Amino acid sequence: MVQERRKNGIMQSPKNNISNEVLGGLSSEIPDLEISRQPEDLTEYGRDWTRLYPPEPCGIAFPRSEEQILRLVRWANSAGVALVPSGGRTGLSGGAVAAKGELVVSMARMDRLLEFDPVDRTLTVEAGMITEKIQQLAAENGLMFPVDFAAKGSSQIGGNLATNAGGVKVLRYGLTRDWVVGMRVVTGAGELLDVNRGLIKNATGYDLRHLFIGSEGTLGIIVSVTLRLAEPPPSQSVMVVGLEGMDPLMQVFDLARESLTLSAFEFFSDLALSYVIAEGSPRAPFESRMPYYALLEFDCVGEDGEAAALAFFERCLEEGWIGDGVLSQSEAQAAELWSLREFISERISAKTPYKNDLSTRISQVPAFLHALEDVVLSRYPDFEVVWYGHIGDGNLHLNILKPDDLSLAEFKKACESVNEEIFGVVARFRGSVSAEHGVGLLKQPYLDRSRDPHEIHYLSGIKRVFDPNWILNPGKMLPEA
Ligand code: MLT
Ligand code: ZN
Repeated sequence: MVQERRKNGIMQSPKNNISNEVLGGLSSEIPDLEISRQPEDLTEYGRDWTRLYPPEPCGIAFPRSEEQILRLVRWANSAGVALVPSGGRTGLSGGAVAAKGELVVSMARMDRLLEFDPVDRTLTVEAGMITEKIQQLAAENGLMFPVDFAAKGSSQIGGNLATNAGGVKVLRYGLTRDWVVGMRVVTGAGELLDVNRGLIKNATGYDLRHLFIGSEGTLGIIVSVTLRLAEPPPSQSVMVVGLEGMDPLMQVFDLARESLTLSAFEFFSDLALSYVIAEGSPRAPFESRMPYYALLEFDCVGEDGEAAALAFFERCLEEGWIGDGVLSQSEAQAAELWSLREFISERISAKTPYKNDLSTRISQVPAFLHALEDVVLSRYPDFEVVWYGHIGDGNLHLNILKPDDLSLAEFKKACESVNEEIFGVVARFRGSVSAEHGVGLLKQPYLDRSRDPHEIHYLSGIKRVFDPNWILNPGKMLPEA
């Protein structure tokens, strides 16, 4: 049985004794910093949703202020302790996993609203605020924070910045990066930067915002952020259509872009649908089952809006691109249709999926899909492969499900052996091995399939500038120093 004891305010378990003394030093340095070494916290805060790496942090720090983070990072530099910045841990590439005895820095206690400015239409919040809460605060003020994805109820805005989160509305509203007008960051060198200060226009040299956004906690710890908010769109409708094959997908997309004002164009396979509807709710969109489905969200105001939607639907039927479809008639029905797409990730999670998050240019999508399908059919004949994605952005999620009778290690090895071919296709199409999930641990060995050696050299140089002792998230995104 693990025994707990308290020393210098730190909850300790006997394991990881090596770091007890070191962590005791941290407690003396910042006496009011909350630190946990409870086994359940080590497990929970040491991992993210990737689930492929056993968590092994030495402790979890829960700072409550910018000042505590500054002192913590300075202490980590002098003590030589690696830190893993941690948000809602909804990541899917292992970016927030602490598998090598690192100290996790959880932003969970820093989730306050700092300011809403109605003239600037900005919201300034601490980095630990949950994404959905930001959406709610924006809506309460008649505005919208348009970055949206299924994990929004758990993910934190700091993590969204650190991974430049995408999601289901990128087609219309862009990525997280497009909504950030300011941030305060503690660099790996232990300095506080107040970046861009809420400005829309600021042509004073390198824009450091965009270095920290997408840096996966390797350059600094984001402490607070100022976000631009959008005007909400007019009333939206959702349509789900069934397709016989992948080929008509982009024809449907082209016509939809031409005839409707799209907010989203998503894609999923029938196997994905089977997992989502297996528990009885939500229900299948219509009676007939089709191999693939597309979900469209678009502006739909009054009778004209509905007539345009129906004309689009008729034309797709006439062309033979789709076999069936449904148009939402209420907000509740729109939400149910959305859940067919948004529940996929959660409903397949029990199968410990090996995730691929690939992208190419939109014009290349049909050929890219075929090339990937060839690899999947020849190399994964015994595994279930679930396809879905933000196809309107050229982003495809390819999930390989673990058979129950295969160990995690065997399964991971099998998937990694096919990666060579999958990423070969990605390289051939000049695509990305991680469109929106980040590099983390999972995609780190494959960074060179999307970035050339010169780029990787410059990335390492940038890391050295902001984090000279390589204490922030070492081994994530870039190889260990
Ligand atoms: C999604 O599109 O559902 C998210 O990126 C999560 C996932 O890929 O599983
Ligand atoms: Zn996604």
